[in-house]
Amino acid sequence: MKPLIELKNITYRAHDKNILSIPHFQIPEGELLGIMGPNGAGKSTLLKVMALLDSPASGEILYRGQAVPNGTPSLDLRRKFSVALQQSLLLEGTVYQNIAIGLKLRKVPKSVIKEKVNLWMEQFQISHLAKKNAHFLSGGEAQRVNLARAMIVEPEILFLDEPFSALDFPTKIKLMDDFKGIIKDSATTTVFVSHDLMEINYLTNTLAIIVNGEVKQYGPTQRVLEHPNLATSPFLNEWKKFYPMSFRHEKPLSLTR
Ligand SMILES: Nc1ncnc2c1ncn2[C@@H]1O[C@H](COP(=O)(O)OP(=O)(O)O)[C@@H](O)[C@H]1O
Ligand SMILES: [Mg+2]
Repeated sequence: MKPLIELKNITYRAHDKNILSIPHFQIPEGELLGIMGPNGAGKSTLLKVMALLDSPASGEILYRGQAVPNGTPSLDLRRKFSVALQQSLLLEGTVYQNIAIGLKLRKVPKSVIKEKVNLWMEQFQISHLAKKNAHFLSGGEAQRVNLARAMIVEPEILFLDEPFSALDFPTKIKLMDDFKGIIKDSATTTVFVSHDLMEINYLTNTLAIIVNGEVKQYGPTQRVLEHPNLATSPFLNEWKKFYPMSFRHEKPLSLTR
């Protein structure tokens, strides 16, 4: 199968410093891909480049085999992507209005918008918040609205940058659990950036570890976590010391130090 997104010889520079250096990377359709790495490794920069929100210094990005003209993706192409960040950045207005915004911009008929907003509020268990001012939500509620807003436009690919990192632990695991069901049902190709081993292990099938702007390891999540290489073990082994084993899912990891 053709990859949905392919990166070729991508570099990104800021202040004369190389932030990213990616000779080749691809995201197959239907993938639930994790991107993990230390603080400052370049995860968010890579996400922004792949989501066409920022242009690389050099290299080529292909979407379904077609080169994206550097820096100028068409509106059509942009609308195939959804992005949700750590900060939910909700707009003035109600929860309903916030979730409806993507469809409104696409000039979807009001009756269809209503149907879909109701459906996605139900999926994320926030129907009771429909009329609430989005600026008065708890962190967990706001992130549910944020994710519903990203999913309602039925993107071909969903980009998530640390969406659970600011949440307290019980709120995080409840939302991650709900989200896992939703994303599996929708089969949306998803790129999930996180520095957190528990989140990555729980949500992703495939994992890329990025260190100093380079992809140092790539493969099935379980295998990468079980067998860090020389470049990724300093980072992964720190996590393994503290990883709460009781939250492992499905196949147990055999974590050895
Ligand atoms: N526009 C920019 N200007 C200056 N430095 C930047 C810019 N964007 C990213 N960086 C730097 O690039 C590195 C990677 O940043 P980032 O992608 O945010 O890392 P991560 O998300 O893995 O924590 C950091 O050292 C950051 O300070
Ligand atoms: Mg980041």
